[in-house]
Amino acid sequence: MDRLGVTVPEQLERQTKWLTEHWLWLLDTSVLPSLPALPSALDVGSGPGLVAESISSRLNITCLDSDLASVQGCRSRGLKAVRGDAHYLPFPDRSFDMAYCSFALLWFRDPLKAVNEMLRVSRSWVLLLAEPDHGGRIDHPEGLLPLKEIILNGMKQEGADPLMGRKLRSLCSALDMDADIGIHPGAWSLRRMRKEAEGEWDWISRTVGGTAHLETLRREWDRALEQGTLFYHVPTFYAIIRK
Ligand SMILES: C[S@@+](CC[C@H](N)C(=O)[O-])C[C@H]1O[C@@H](n2cnc3c(N)ncnc32)[C@H](O)[C@@H]1O
Repeated sequence: MDRLGVTVPEQLERQTKWLTEHWLWLLDTSVLPSLPALPSALDVGSGPGLVAESISSRLNITCLDSDLASVQGCRSRGLKAVRGDAHYLPFPDRSFDMAYCSFALLWFRDPLKAVNEMLRVSRSWVLLLAEPDHGGRIDHPEGLLPLKEIILNGMKQEGADPLMGRKLRSLCSALDMDADIGIHPGAWSLRRMRKEAEGEWDWISRTVGGTAHLETLRREWDRALEQGTLFYHVPTFYAIIRK
């Protein structure tokens, strides 16, 4: 089974911390009012369950991932979890009130088929909770501009689609579904940027491998961090689909 997209927990944890508040707001305002208390949900490509854990106060969640260690990670958090392939979900039609995924479509071989499967097993909602678009990445100061291209290439080599965010509309249209599409808020404070910068750099260097430019860029990054001028942002999209 696919091991594409298996990601170090530190990166998943940073993403989850950033987005949990907005996910809960989206659930509370757009989705949950139409559902019974504690509706059932399938988390597709759940990883070790950090997202599921962060929104489990609102939902009765079953996690699914193709990676065994991720399934075990979910279970160690007390979550229900099964091993399976997002392209062939092992559940009958309309098994859950909703199906959702996060930072996952960009890693799936056939995202259209995976969303179609989520639509099949859901009774009413499919939420594409977070898909980044690294083509819209912003880096400042100017010396850091080369980072975007290097990251795009690194992600493609790893098998990801770094432009998945902008494709959510076409995915939904191809399935004849109207969707409420948006971008998560979140330019960070300098304090937060300083706290997160080391982890972000670790992710960059893992993603791009041994690219020659990186040492110069690292010096530029550290200097900007010290001077309080560092800024980076990856627009991260969501789509809310009602069946
Ligand atoms: C970047 S991680 C995201 C994990 C989690 N959704 C989150 O946001 O923290 C992508 C996950 O998708 C899983 N994955 C990749 N291809 C898959 C497939 N075909 N079926 C199920 N899971 C898959 C990987 O094993 C990995 O755990």
